Amino acid sequence: MYKKILVPLDGSEKANAAAEHAIELAAKLDAEVTLYHVIPALSPYGNSNLNGAYQQIHNEIQATGEETLQKAQDNFAKSGVKLDIKVIWGDPAEEICREAKEREFDLIVMGSRGLGEIRGFIMGSVSNRVVRHASTPVLIVR
Ligand SMILES: Nc1ncnc2c1ncn2[C@@H]1O[C@H](COP(=O)(O)OP(=O)(O)O)[C@@H](O)[C@H]1O
Ligand SMILES: [Mg+2]
Repeated sequence: MYKKILVPLDGSEKANAAAEHAIELAAKLDAEVTLYHVIPALSPYGNSNLNGAYQQIHNEIQATGEETLQKAQDNFAKSGVKLDIKVIWGDPAEEICREAKEREFDLIVMGSRGLGEIRGFIMGSVSNRVVRHASTPVLIVR
């Protein structure tokens, strides 16, 4: 049971707590974990008008996303759990659900909240949408 676990990270404390939880679970179940970060798409105008600058910003954002996941991966290396990382551009909730389905993950482990500023909600918009739309079981860590 649960051999492939998808862990969406946004750099928040709650997401990191979810990752720790996922790693512990994976160690017990002998499962593999993918740390996954979705970068919201930049404005489509940029492609035509800003050329080089746009590409440079795109590359820097991509590199920052990869570094963040790389750090998390290094941090969990001692767990012995098989880990990989993936950064993708798009709508976070949509991409998390799509990735889980297409690559046949059998569990998503994520934080209840993330980096969002709006207080007073138990769950953020991304976790909320993933819980409602994913075809994969979802474990929300609070
Ligand atoms: N861009 C993202 N890429 C990957 N995972 C994300 C992203 N944004 C949010 N998540 C996941 O969703 C969880 C809940 O975050 P979110 O719903 O965005 O709450 P908030 O509204 O507080 O930011 C996070 O702990 C993280 O696991
Ligand atoms: Mg958020």
